[in-house]
Amino acid sequence: MKKVGVALLGLGTVGGGTYRILQNNHDAIMKNDGIDLEIKHIIEKDVTKAQALGADLSIVGTDIDAVVNDKDVQIVAEFFGGIEPAKSFLIKCLLAGKSIVTANKEMFSKNWVELEAAAKKGHAGLYFEASCVGGVPIIRTLTESMQGNNIRSLMGIVNGTTNFILSQMADDGLAYSDVLKEAQALGYAEANPTADVEGFDSMYKLSILSSLAFRKKVPISVIHREGISQVSKEDIEYGKMLGYTLKLLAIAKETDGKIEARVHPAFVPDSHPLASVKGSFNAVHIVGDNVGDIMLYGRGAGDLPTGSAIVSDIVFAASQPKPKYAPFKNVDKINPKDFTDNYQCKYYLRLNVRDQAGVIAKITSVFAKHNISIQSIRQVSDGETATVIFLLHKTFENDLTKAIALIEKLDCVVSCDATVRVED
Ligand code: HSE
Repeated sequence: MKKVGVALLGLGTVGGGTYRILQNNHDAIMKNDGIDLEIKHIIEKDVTKAQALGADLSIVGTDIDAVVNDKDVQIVAEFFGGIEPAKSFLIKCLLAGKSIVTANKEMFSKNWVELEAAAKKGHAGLYFEASCVGGVPIIRTLTESMQGNNIRSLMGIVNGTTNFILSQMADDGLAYSDVLKEAQALGYAEANPTADVEGFDSMYKLSILSSLAFRKKVPISVIHREGISQVSKEDIEYGKMLGYTLKLLAIAKETDGKIEARVHPAFVPDSHPLASVKGSFNAVHIVGDNVGDIMLYGRGAGDLPTGSAIVSDIVFAASQPKPKYAPFKNVDKINPKDFTDNYQCKYYLRLNVRDQAGVIAKITSVFAKHNISIQSIRQVSDGETATVIFLLHKTFENDLTKAIALIEKLDCVVSCDATVRVED
């Protein structure tokens, strides 16, 4: 029986879930995978966390060097979160030949190059299944199961907090700020919700996922990012009338050798599989040129779902004869020609206009000048002003930006209140 020593750095929510799975599934892993996993060290300041789990307190401490210097530890799982000290600890472990397992998407997406260099030096492995979409096995799907395809697009709901907020806004007709408070009270959203609601968390995940999907490094610097804090309940309601559901999407596509990568709120048709992903659930929809459409769905956060991905990585790391690294040239310097930010989308536009003769003609003439074609127009008037909703056929982002700047200057236009991308 192969004995493998494991260290857990941190015993918070995911660390605790991992500990419980390792205890409960120990014998099944021995029987099914032929690996006897033994937790040798737990690095945790708060001993009560270890006590609550019934852990052996003699292996609980705060000295990372005890892990680095223990030749019986082969795998180190990190749950600190944040950049430091997680990054420095992991680099020390890698250089000492210990494979690492992490759920830390911010640290990993920003330091993948440096971590990989240390891993190669130490002949150790880097495993990060839990960093994207929690318990959903998306990383291994991309790295081990899609070799027969060129991936055309990857589109996902990769953040549960924002999906919970948008789902509640849609179901209960509530404003963003009210639902955010509810999400915080229920523990779905952090006291400081910025990383989730402004799309940073989704951006880190998209950087990792799109790099693997397109076999080319997609750093966070090339990802367009918008969050959901400006989303209004009016647009969610108008979208519903038009047959659309609003989601915070992480989208990456490769067209004619150029990659576009973006995180922003977008309407998807109610019939799209991502529209039915509700509450705190996550899902990733992938299109491969041979397999066609695939969707992976599940819990993107939580102690046991994320712990499930960590344990899968620990077993995978323990079973690999030799570590494999990124399936692309993992460098920080990219060729800007490989990327584009002038992509084509359909758009929803909500304008507030004076309700008088010739208004629609003036607006549509601006669209025509920019080669923007209208799919449908709806108008609701209160007598003096009117809300006009345009659905626009696919248009280049840059053309739309120029058109909106001119439309906003028209005397008959009071304000341009919302622009939302539409993904079919
Ligand atoms: N905060 C994330 C979410 C989970 O709300 O989905 C961890 O990335």
